Amino acid sequence: MSRTWIELDLDTLAENIRAAMEAAGRAEILMVVKSNAYNHGLAPVSKEAWRCGVRTFVVGTVEEAVALKGTVPGAKVLFVGSAVAESAREIVQSGIVPVLYSEPQARAISEAAVTAGTRVECHVKIDTGMGRMGFQWEKAGPALETLAAMRGLRITGICTHFASGPSDGAFAAEQAERFRKVVAEAARHGLRNLFRHASNSTVFCDEGAWDFEGVRPGILLYGYGRQGARKIVTKPFLQWKSRLVQVKEVPSGFPVSYDSTYRAPRRTRLGTVDAGYADGFSRMLSNKGFMLVGGRRCPVAGRVTMNYTVLDLGPESSAREGDEVVIIGRQGGEEIWADEMAAWRGTIPYEVLTNILTGDRRVTASRTPRLPHQTQC
Ligand SMILES: Cc1ncc(COP(=O)(O)O)c(C=O)c1O
Repeated sequence: MSRTWIELDLDTLAENIRAAMEAAGRAEILMVVKSNAYNHGLAPVSKEAWRCGVRTFVVGTVEEAVALKGTVPGAKVLFVGSAVAESAREIVQSGIVPVLYSEPQARAISEAAVTAGTRVECHVKIDTGMGRMGFQWEKAGPALETLAAMRGLRITGICTHFASGPSDGAFAAEQAERFRKVVAEAARHGLRNLFRHASNSTVFCDEGAWDFEGVRPGILLYGYGRQGARKIVTKPFLQWKSRLVQVKEVPSGFPVSYDSTYRAPRRTRLGTVDAGYADGFSRMLSNKGFMLVGGRRCPVAGRVTMNYTVLDLGPESSAREGDEVVIIGRQGGEEIWADEMAAWRGTIPYEVLTNILTGDRRVTASRTPRLPHQTQC
């Protein structure tokens, strides 16, 4: 039996996708499933998304791209990760669409394609101000000319990545403007009718003018992020659970965990949870976080340890060894989601979610019966 596990409510994912598709209208949803679908599980998430009509997925590693092709063979897989020269052959053979970000990377892929006697469909990434990956926007003209001349490449798309949202200042608008200029420049080098995509969740939620032909939401589809001006409502569908492995009644002043940083403020019951920082429950949550037991929020008592976390269950608690503990999710009328936990830790829900370390993912709710022929939500 696993010490901690994830439960996925795929019906909620389907509702999230439907909400995003409705907002996007004619723009295509390119669903970001990097890092094992933000740790929700690449296979269950991509299969459900495909059932809901998502046709393009964005991955961060060649391994993920190949796994996705195996799980959803019809999917278009956009690979936005780094590609070392050794992976060029695999990219060419697996039919994934690499996003080109540098000349050496593009050349390696083109050469591998020429050797294989083919041309590889590619998108080009323009760095309009994120300062991370991509061809710098001011110098994009000569770069696009060089790429257009590479015999092994067939460039069909162009993209950029926003550093912040439109409600965080004027920079997003400046990035969008730079992107438009580069797209116009690409046309002058013979790269016309490119599929354009730029918006991540934050920008997509706030600004429809930059949807272009496609948008690349990630966290929104996992139920987090700001609702934004477009009022796109999505809900989290990953719950993270564990169990109480010991419950004990202790007197007032009883010390708890390393360095005795917690002392029971009164006679109480302590519950030891089978999850610690090695499982992804950050040590930053020592004496800070909460978990749900018996439908109640119970504070973390003392330091989080490698494999265990102790909760103050309260003197009246009737919890017993073996009871289920909700670390992220819902129990009774109470809820704790990754954004709240992120605030306790001073981080973002992306990090909370991707830090969870368990291989045990269970698909739970299925309110809507699945018909074999059903392809749209
Ligand atoms: C290139 C790219 N596009 C889109 C996204 C999705 O971002 P978000 O989850 O904020 O929507 C990411 C995520 O890191 C990304 O790296």
